[in-house]
Amino acid sequence: MRLGVNIDHVATIRQARRTVEPEPIYAALLVQEALADGITVHLREDRRHIQDQDVYQIKEIIKIPLNLEMSLNEEIVNIALDVKPHQATLVPENRQEITTEGGLDVDQNFDRVKKVVERLHKKGIIVSLFIDPVEWQIEQAKQTGADAIEIHTGSYANAKVDREREIELEKIINAAKYASSLGLHVHAGHGLTYENVKPIAAIKEIEELNIGHSIIAKSVFVGIKEAVRLMRQLIYEARWKLV
Ligand code: PXP
Repeated sequence: MRLGVNIDHVATIRQARRTVEPEPIYAALLVQEALADGITVHLREDRRHIQDQDVYQIKEIIKIPLNLEMSLNEEIVNIALDVKPHQATLVPENRQEITTEGGLDVDQNFDRVKKVVERLHKKGIIVSLFIDPVEWQIEQAKQTGADAIEIHTGSYANAKVDREREIELEKIINAAKYASSLGLHVHAGHGLTYENVKPIAAIKEIEELNIGHSIIAKSVFVGIKEAVRLMRQLIYEARWKLV
């Protein structure tokens, strides 16, 4: 299972003071040294954390794959086509939200999504769609020609009681199986922490996790390399049981 580390919140600290530190590129280098499989950043339309130059710099300097989270906004799509990240993950975006809320509604935005998938594919970029664990959305995702889906794990992560968490986990397991049966690669992310990652990491069909806030939060106390190592260890323990 690959671990993509989302470093948006390193930029959040920098932007809190509109200064030059901490630098996301330095975080990306340390994440790479910690043997993560990829760097994930979200270039938001409002540029609240990651800035355009961060994306270009990370793409130029970092050797491990860059996964660019992005909306369907034309300006952002054009930047993605210019940067040519290894992978683009299409997400919905609402300026009022604190973080991404809910998956992309592929059904409602089918033509727009399909066109963006085609344009990204022409530049050789792998495309993943961030969607809720719902069969209909998975079928639509497949129809757009996307290579992968990233299952939104937010409802699982936010569940208040065990029963609710079990129900959400079941939805994710079924969605992963279904997407895989359609030939889609399966990723997952959002709200994953050191406490809740293991049941998700134990889902055989999921090939990649993208985790940000929890790793950056822990790195404040233990450093980013140790924070990545601890997360990898939990993923390894969950996967090992599958062998
Ligand atoms: N995956 C996607 C598509 C996201 O939008 C985000 C948040 O930027 C993440 C993963 C990471 O979420 P978190 O910061 O809660 O780990």
